[in-house]
Amino acid sequence: MLDGRRYEVPSDLKTSAYITSSEYEKKYKESIENPDKFWNEQARNIEWIKPFTKVKNTSFEQGKIDIKWFEDGQLNISQNCLDRHLATKGDDIAIIWEGDSPSLSRQMTYKELHEQVCRFANVLKSQGIKKGDVVVIYMPMVPEAAVAMLACTRIGAIHSVIFGGFSPEAIAGRIIDSNAKLVITSDEGIRGGKIIPLKKNVDAALAKPEITTVEKVIVFERTGHHDAWHSERDIWWHEAVNAADPYCDYEVMDAESPLFILYTSGSTGKPKGVLHSTAGYLVYTTLTFKTVFNYQPKDIFWCTADVGWITGHSYLVYGPLSNGATIVMYEGIPSYPTPNRLSQIVDKYQVNILYTAPTAIRALMAQGDVVVENTHRNSLKLLGTVGEPINPQAWIWYHETIGNSRCPIVDTWWQTETGGFLITPLPGAHALKPGAAMKPFFGVQPALVDNEGNFIEGEGEGNLVIMDSWPSQARTLYGDHARFEEAYFATFKNTYFSGDAAKRDADGDIWITGRVDDVLNISGHRLGTAEVESALVAHPKIAEAAVIGVPHDIKGQAIYAYITLNAGEEADDALYLEVKNWVRNEIGAIATPDYIHATKGLPKTRSGKIMRRILRKIACDEADQLGDISTLADPSVVEKLISEYKCLL
Ligand code: PRX
Repeated sequence: MLDGRRYEVPSDLKTSAYITSSEYEKKYKESIENPDKFWNEQARNIEWIKPFTKVKNTSFEQGKIDIKWFEDGQLNISQNCLDRHLATKGDDIAIIWEGDSPSLSRQMTYKELHEQVCRFANVLKSQGIKKGDVVVIYMPMVPEAAVAMLACTRIGAIHSVIFGGFSPEAIAGRIIDSNAKLVITSDEGIRGGKIIPLKKNVDAALAKPEITTVEKVIVFERTGHHDAWHSERDIWWHEAVNAADPYCDYEVMDAESPLFILYTSGSTGKPKGVLHSTAGYLVYTTLTFKTVFNYQPKDIFWCTADVGWITGHSYLVYGPLSNGATIVMYEGIPSYPTPNRLSQIVDKYQVNILYTAPTAIRALMAQGDVVVENTHRNSLKLLGTVGEPINPQAWIWYHETIGNSRCPIVDTWWQTETGGFLITPLPGAHALKPGAAMKPFFGVQPALVDNEGNFIEGEGEGNLVIMDSWPSQARTLYGDHARFEEAYFATFKNTYFSGDAAKRDADGDIWITGRVDDVLNISGHRLGTAEVESALVAHPKIAEAAVIGVPHDIKGQAIYAYITLNAGEEADDALYLEVKNWVRNEIGAIATPDYIHATKGLPKTRSGKIMRRILRKIACDEADQLGDISTLADPSVVEKLISEYKCLL
């Protein structure tokens, strides 16, 4: 299963990279033995309004989880991402925007971005937004999404970006949980030629009587089409920005001030509002961006992630802009309108570093060589991947076909909660193995434990835990510290539990094998089985539901939903369609079940617990490995499920 190939460090990077092999060994050791000294030095890469005197003050002790970095320092993130570059890089391009249609393109220099952020920060202030208020951003991939994020950080507001694919229900849940005061959206979005009715979705969410905190909605005009306009509430972005003052001073923020909330799925309950804070997040994303991508001045960096995910936060906006980098922001999808669109964009802007997800790589690979037709991609120096384990075959295709067999690939393992890369190769330091995330970044101490919490030393596989804090670690779940402790620190005492499993090979390199909890990974997007189940059982005809992830060639995992219907209801094609649309409306398109299996009864223990292990085996076509089913209240349901499964395919 593990592909045996190994790609040595390219000879030019061996000596020229920021971090070479011997430096990695030395610095890693230093970062673990003396984190205060190491992070004290690294924190000098950002600007402080008031320097810190304390570096690390963190506890992973049960019941006392408390994470503080650089706690008495003061700074502002938008100042770090914009103002500090103006003197030397003011005329450099900060954002190159490529529209969904190949004929649309814009560029913004650091000076221009600074002015837009200042103006928009003044708009927010004029609408009564203050330090500590929560602002929702539900935007397409346009530079104004980054402007909105940076404007929030300029005045100390906490942004909560919601991915544009989420439904009104999902938006409403996030607004209610965070008591957001203002929503920033767009009339519509466009992706792959399809219209996304963003403003309409916001209107539908805000129509819910439970939402009482939102006072204003600022609307960016992307297409010029929208339905309703609530003149007492809705404000056009362009009108407000044009009328605003072009300079806005930045707020002085404490190191631990909340920076943003980003909702993500867990194994239980509703999505969790992961809260990141200011200084540690910036120090860590600034350093990881520079060293893991080996970013050199003038390099063009393209991260294909949407701003609605953590990758879009850390490595499309904050990490790159803090380094004064030039980023490409793309509104569309890799194969629209032609299969070679991604490669064309690489050539068009002479992209040097490309960072994308295994699901996109597999989707391109499946189309064959048309995806690189009439392009050369000679500008590329480095490739990156994130979001799920990359199968060696896709890694090798990415390396050979997109990267012309020339570019190292950094397979970066991290999470919404980690804020930045935790396990990843450094391109000048580590030989690469297709499918392996390889080595811990500075300051990160991964370990493998069995289900009882015993450490697995040497070669082996187990639950992936992190032994001590790193600066960009999430501080809490918004308004629910008890759930934070429970979700990450209760399973294995005194460590952070990632929810993933990993293997350590004979060389000590780490291979992530996937989630071990009830979290699905659909096209690199996290989704809780519990979330999809609760959407299903909210349907008036459904009595019970159990959701399983099954392997999928392109998406990594697909959703297989078992349902039982209320008495008198019949399963037919119309019902299946209705149920799929229902889930899409409740959560969003990414949660649409691929398979719906209606049945009369689910396998349960005598105490009524659904035995997912059995459902998983059946859905994965492994019914010959069911194991012991004698504890079931009614073992006959299993045969029935197996025969129904065969008919379903
Ligand atoms: O299972 C791991 C997988 O994505 C999960 C985190 O998802 P999310 O918080 O949405 O963040 C995605 C982008 C950072 C992890 O628990 N994952 C992420 N990167 C990798 C990965 N699995 C294997 N290899 C990776 N490089």
